[in-house]
Amino acid sequence: MPAVVQLDDIHKTYSSGEVEVRAVRGISLAMHKGEFIAIMGASGSGKSTLMNLLGCLDRPTHGRYLLDGIDVSNLDSNELADIRNQKLGFVFQGFNLLSRTTARENVELPTLYSKHRRSAREMRDRALRCLDIVGLANRADHFPSQLSGGQQQRVAIARALVNEPQILLADEPTGNLDSKTSAEVMGVFQQLNNEGITIVMVTHELDIAHYCKRNLIIRDGRLVSDVQVATRNVAEVEIRKLQEAEAEAKLTD
Ligand SMILES: Nc1ncnc2c1ncn2[C@@H]1O[C@H](COP(=O)(O)OP(=O)(O)O)[C@@H](O)[C@H]1O
Ligand SMILES: [Mg+2]
Repeated sequence: MPAVVQLDDIHKTYSSGEVEVRAVRGISLAMHKGEFIAIMGASGSGKSTLMNLLGCLDRPTHGRYLLDGIDVSNLDSNELADIRNQKLGFVFQGFNLLSRTTARENVELPTLYSKHRRSAREMRDRALRCLDIVGLANRADHFPSQLSGGQQQRVAIARALVNEPQILLADEPTGNLDSKTSAEVMGVFQQLNNEGITIVMVTHELDIAHYCKRNLIIRDGRLVSDVQVATRNVAEVEIRKLQEAEAEAKLTD
């Protein structure tokens, strides 16, 4: 099977004045359709830099990046924006929803920038379908402030899905969430991945990485570990355990 992502000796060096920071130092790897990958590493190891490169938000200073067979290493910023719109969906730690806009309208937003011209009705139906996938069909008319953190992140996932991306990229998507809500959000990712969507996420929590299928570890801008997860966490099981622990804690109060 051809790789969705092929990185060959990718480097990223930030230069600001005299100082050079070699944030990514020669990473080569392939990612295939249907994979569910966690990128781990200490703070400052280069995870976000690598995600920005994968997400075509930035260009490598050296090396080749093939995304879905297309060499994106040397595209200009307009071309990168088109590729992002067609092929990638993004989920962020802070949800990044527009506060004065309903869940449905937030999810519709990326369809406005899509190359395909769609009617208002079509964009609406698409947004509602994506909200349904993340279990929030009945919250379409709510504003972000009327939703819990976990629900807001699920709206953000629906938004990432609306243009039917090849890959879902998420940088610390559970970073602002408690354990149970994190398990619920990981459950949504597991369900999407079971349906065939390729997911790449950054986390610094090992238990979150264990919901994924493959774990990469970055240290000082280099890939130092690349393993398949032997015993994966299953979201339903983890949620049940957390609920039981909660109930027990209440009894002993
Ligand atoms: N825009 C930038 N300009 C200069 N240095 C940067 C920039 N972004 C990140 N860095 C540096 O690159 C290194 C890797 O950062 P980052 O990719 O954000 O790591 P992580 O996400 O693993 O915490 C750090 O030393 C950081 O200070
Ligand atoms: Mg980071």
